[in-house]
Amino acid sequence: MSALPATRDDRAIWDNWLAMYRFPIVTVADTIGLFAATSAHALTTGELAAELDVDARALGIHLGLLAALGFVERREGRWRATATTRTWLHPEAEGYYGPLIHQYRERQPLHTQLLATLRTGNKAEGHVSAADEWERGEMPADMATWLTAFMNAHSRAAAKAVAQQPLLASIKSVLDVGGGSGIYSIEMSKAWSGLSATIMEIPQVCTAAEPYIATAGVGARVRTQAVNMFKQEWPRDYDAHFFSNVFHDWSDATNRLLAKKSFDALPKGGRILLHEMLMDDDGCGPLPAAAFSVLMLLATRGKQYSLPEFRSILEDAGFTDVEAVQTGGGYYSLVSARKP
Ligand SMILES: C[S@@+](CC[C@H](N)C(=O)[O-])C[C@H]1O[C@@H](n2cnc3c(N)ncnc32)[C@H](O)[C@@H]1O
Repeated sequence: MSALPATRDDRAIWDNWLAMYRFPIVTVADTIGLFAATSAHALTTGELAAELDVDARALGIHLGLLAALGFVERREGRWRATATTRTWLHPEAEGYYGPLIHQYRERQPLHTQLLATLRTGNKAEGHVSAADEWERGEMPADMATWLTAFMNAHSRAAAKAVAQQPLLASIKSVLDVGGGSGIYSIEMSKAWSGLSATIMEIPQVCTAAEPYIATAGVGARVRTQAVNMFKQEWPRDYDAHFFSNVFHDWSDATNRLLAKKSFDALPKGGRILLHEMLMDDDGCGPLPAAAFSVLMLLATRGKQYSLPEFRSILEDAGFTDVEAVQTGGGYYSLVSARKP
């Protein structure tokens, strides 16, 4: 049987993949007493973190998924248990599901890992992660090969959608920062015959990307360049810097550094493009972004950001005209801004 061509709609796969966080996020909230605390009074993230003695940043990400699932709500910045939670998840409620929850939780590695994020504030030991290698700017070749294949798989549909965006019409050269397999550069160059792209990556990922470029037959316009984006000078004078799923790996402070490096290396009028799954402005969903944010908490130093959070990072770096459009590829949006 021959394979069908890739479409731009792989949401069923994402929904299935990210569903794995739904139940453990509830077993962990039950364990730390979150449902009782938010049933008693409305609290800010910081107040709730202090009351439960957990890390506030990690708790904020947990709360985003709990809200997207309908177990807490946020009004005027304060979190409260919903009626569903007060009826079925409060330990003193007649309908408390505790006996069922407790049977499952100890057998779930994700329960232990998610609990650890709240206790330590860090990515979880035992969960797939490359954050330490990325920070160093190098990794073993076999790790670069499987991780690049992993990213390529989840970015195929989204890359086709990015390549259709009209703003690419005015862009001739793209620096694909942390471009992985180069799938976005490949699809952009296939869609726009006048566009060329450079995948800026750590050396072992540059090597891993080469077969993808060769197979796509775009080697004349897509190339790789080994640059540690934190420690080394960036190449200059590209029309646009494209970052897909890069800012979600890092803290607000690190993203401010990346935005500044991008601003300094772009020419006047150059564009920064952030391809990300955006959180709603209030941080309470949507469900795919909230679940993806939990994956980022477990595996990276980041989370999924909202447009106001990106606006603050980009405007503080000097960019103007910040806006976002949904790309039509899965659940992704493209945030763009301009160097004046
Ligand atoms: C989450 S992946 C995204 C890959 C691709 N852009 C996509 O959306 O499929 C983040 C990428 O950033 C790259 N990266 C991480 N640290 C880096 C560094 N210090 N210098 C250059 N690239 C880095 C990683 O190798 C990885 O390919």
